[in-house]
Amino acid sequence: MDSIFLKNTLPLYQTLVHAAAHKDKYGRRRIVSIPLPPRSRDENTIRSIGIEMFVRYSELIRNKGSPMNFLDLATKRSSVRGFAPDSIDQATLGKVLEAGRLAPSAANHQPWHFIVVRDELRKQALKEAYSKEWFWKAPVIIVVCVEPHKAWTRQDGKNYAAVDGAIAMDHMTLCATDLGLGTCWIGAFDPAKVKRILELPEGIEPLVMSPLGKPGAPALPKKRKALDQIMHYEKW
Ligand SMILES: Cc1cc2nc3c(=O)[nH]c(=O)nc-3n(C[C@H](O)[C@H](O)[C@H](O)COP(=O)(O)O)c2cc1C
Repeated sequence: MDSIFLKNTLPLYQTLVHAAAHKDKYGRRRIVSIPLPPRSRDENTIRSIGIEMFVRYSELIRNKGSPMNFLDLATKRSSVRGFAPDSIDQATLGKVLEAGRLAPSAANHQPWHFIVVRDELRKQALKEAYSKEWFWKAPVIIVVCVEPHKAWTRQDGKNYAAVDGAIAMDHMTLCATDLGLGTCWIGAFDPAKVKRILELPEGIEPLVMSPLGKPGAPALPKKRKALDQIMHYEKW
């Protein structure tokens, strides 16, 4: 998409989404207004905007006023343990990493680093740290590392590096799901081997890894505790 197209279309789309997100007094989502295309655009641009708006509008209607239903996404994200060999293009990978970068962190310290492993030899080396074939054969492996000494620490000494790193990984796995890609949190690895293979400097710890790729194996059905087993209102 060229920049004029984006410049013209995005604000319209954002306004449309904003309008679509409006709820009436019954809690129903409503499209309250659809902005008109700006004047003095050339015919092709206006036609493109029209097509784009039609596509987006259809999506909004199909999704009952929301361009992405978060609960659908959370339900769809499942551990994928089998990947197609297809490589992941840089733009797509960039989106996943951007989702991690945007994650919140305690006191906004962002004590994380994301290592992308694509080199065949290094992926094979990671087999030493976590031996499952579906893991090291995935086209990409993302390793979330944390710097505990840079993370926020609570008054009682609790260090939040692991919480922060986990949120970043969660953002990335959800974004990957949104893009049709599979992931699987990996915590059961040998950290000393990961440190060596990825040449991590002193003070940087590997927290969690995930393969990333087109799903090549069906996800297992979700098993979760019922809400009434884990919910407490007001007190324990
Ligand atoms: C912190 C963490 C560590 C995990 N480590 C592993 C792992 O080492 N190997 C693995 O196969 N799955 C691992 N998982 C995936 C869990 O087994 C999986 O998320 C859980 O069974 C729920 O299934 P779902 O992800 O398909 O919803 C891990 C998940 C988390 C959150």
